[in-house]
Amino acid sequence: MPSPPALAPSTVPDPMAAPRVRWGVLGPGGIANTFAEAVRAGTRSEVVAVGSRSAERADAFARRHGVTRSYGSYEELVADEDVDVVYVASPHSEHREHALLAVAAGRHVLVEKAFARSLRETDEVLDAARAAGVLAAEAMWSRYLPQYDVVRRTVAEGTLGDVALVQADHGQLLWPDGPRRLWDPALAGGSLLDLGVYPIHFAHHVLGGLEDVAALGVLTPEGVDATLGVTARRGGALARMTSTMAAATPCAALVAGSAARVELTGPGWFYGAATTVRLVEPGGSVVDTFAPEHPEHGFRYQVAEVARAVAEGRHEPWSVPWTATRAVMTVMDEVRRQVGVTYPGE
Ligand SMILES: NC(=O)c1ccc[n+]([C@@H]2O[C@H](COP(=O)([O-])OP(=O)(O)OC[C@H]3O[C@@H](n4cnc5c(N)ncnc54)[C@H](OP(=O)(O)O)[C@@H]3O)[C@@H](O)[C@H]2O)c1
Repeated sequence: MPSPPALAPSTVPDPMAAPRVRWGVLGPGGIANTFAEAVRAGTRSEVVAVGSRSAERADAFARRHGVTRSYGSYEELVADEDVDVVYVASPHSEHREHALLAVAAGRHVLVEKAFARSLRETDEVLDAARAAGVLAAEAMWSRYLPQYDVVRRTVAEGTLGDVALVQADHGQLLWPDGPRRLWDPALAGGSLLDLGVYPIHFAHHVLGGLEDVAALGVLTPEGVDATLGVTARRGGALARMTSTMAAATPCAALVAGSAARVELTGPGWFYGAATTVRLVEPGGSVVDTFAPEHPEHGFRYQVAEVARAVAEGRHEPWSVPWTATRAVMTVMDEVRRQVGVTYPGE
């Protein structure tokens, strides 16, 4: 009797087994706290320094996370010889400038998603990193998770048959009452760079480069996208990607093929560390599931992979190679062109 179809196993190494690197946090805002906690609790690495535009904010962050050195400027942070990698956690509009600052000082960089505002800015940073011989990586943290590895390997092994459809959705209620960086065009606000980047990365992760991008958007009075629908094609497969900052959505994803589909669901949404991957036969029976035993501190997977890449002298991570960051940014440039979103100063 043939054995039932199964999900491919994860090949992502234990984050606690990765080498230690010394991190500097640039821009100690909301997400930098999650990052510092994941480094401390989920890896052997350490945040050794923090840089803020304000010495008080840097001090407060340092006290909160037990960080030894705090600086009242980003210039001082990147000049710290004991920092191996700078984590750029500023708003999207600032990523290019802050990543270039770190690279110019000879530091490796992990840049929060979206890597920059545009492909042009992305290439500026990657070219600088290549010239300086340092690592540059996009902190698209979900792509480093074991679940994404399982999905991609399951598709690559042909378990789903011919893939016909990829669907991924990311909606959070962040507007109109959310933080400024979401609605202000000057900070490259809107759903695309903040939320839509996840579904687009997911579709790229599964299918590779996306073609024939078609987008519709609903814009805010300030001129950034509140809600987006994007369709693209790769060979015989269609990808449908949606994002909104005007409503909370289930944030689910699936990859459907002629033989089976995988579904990503769960309390961490499709991009989160607590996501469950299910293999479902066309008749609807769930034949296999995967969820990591310890879903907490999901950022640790990207921290560990960057640490391994640095230790091995690689300039890009396996999970989010430069081709992925560039391909996603190419799609996002095209989406913005079609829906009419521009950011001042880009
Ligand atoms: N991976 C995830 O799950 C996730 C979740 C949320 C956000 N993010 C990403 O993380 C980045 C930051 O988001 P966040 O929510 O942490 O933002 P945030 O709370 O506003 O923090 C950003 C920090 O950047 C610094 N900054 C530098 N230039 C700035 C400027 N011109 N305007 C405002 N702040 C500036 C500020 O710190 P100082 O002034 O003290 O230096 C600020 O605290 C974005 O790229 C976002 O997409 C990722």
